[in-house]
Amino acid sequence: MKGIILAGGTGSRLMPLTKITNKHLLPVYNKPMIYYPLQTLVDAGIKDIMLVSGKGFAGHFVELLGSGKALGARITYEVQEEAGGIAQALGLARQWAGDEKLMVILGDNIFDDNISKAVEDFKKQPGGAKIFLKSVEDPKRFGVPQLSGDKIVQIEEKPAVPKSDYAVTGLYMYDSQVWNVIDDLVPSGRGELEITDVNNFYVQQGTMSYEILENNWTDAGTFDSLLRASNHVYKMEQDK
Ligand code: DAU
Repeated sequence: MKGIILAGGTGSRLMPLTKITNKHLLPVYNKPMIYYPLQTLVDAGIKDIMLVSGKGFAGHFVELLGSGKALGARITYEVQEEAGGIAQALGLARQWAGDEKLMVILGDNIFDDNISKAVEDFKKQPGGAKIFLKSVEDPKRFGVPQLSGDKIVQIEEKPAVPKSDYAVTGLYMYDSQVWNVIDDLVPSGRGELEITDVNNFYVQQGTMSYEILENNWTDAGTFDSLLRASNHVYKMEQDK
């Protein structure tokens, strides 16, 4: 299974921090943000990784991470010319990924769970997709699943009235159907190809599985969540 880290986008919610550097290079306590999702992939046994970044900063990622050898990974780089959405960034990895199953992670998501077991389960699953949910206080900021019993019936992106307390976190597993799904997407109201539309394809197909994360998860793309992420990592380091 191959891994893809998405680190494009504009980071506009973090201006002026993101005026002259990229969101994913900002510190989360004692490391650049991008280290955390990279470590999540490596800890899950995924070593063959593509990093998709925005145009202005691709060189900075290469400077920081090099071949990935020091982290036990082999990193390939791709450039997203414009911030056309998470699914558009993912589409850029198509040639590189071929027919393999994929694990996709957002570059501003910080997970405490080790997901090796989920990776092994997904490898055995005949196809489809898997997502990871976490109960949150502010679901309106995220993709939110509507559940019926233990089945997801649909996912809504940033709903005004969330149908559950769960966020769809930025960690996704897909089979190679994902490339055709991305081909058929149309831009959303915010002009982006939405990962939630990709996920809803699998929900409708009946091939979407999910797990609920046991440990802490946060994004780090707003001032509050960036601070929360740093404080959390600080606390984890103190408790070691
Ligand atoms: O954090 C989880 C949430 O991430 C999910 O619950 C939502 O369903 C999903 O849409 C996403 O929401 P955000 O609005 O917070 O995503 P954001 O635009 O902040 O992008 C998250 C990461 O995706 C970003 O750190 C880098 C990558 N990205 C994003 C865009 C828009 C790209 O690589 N290219 C892009 O064009």
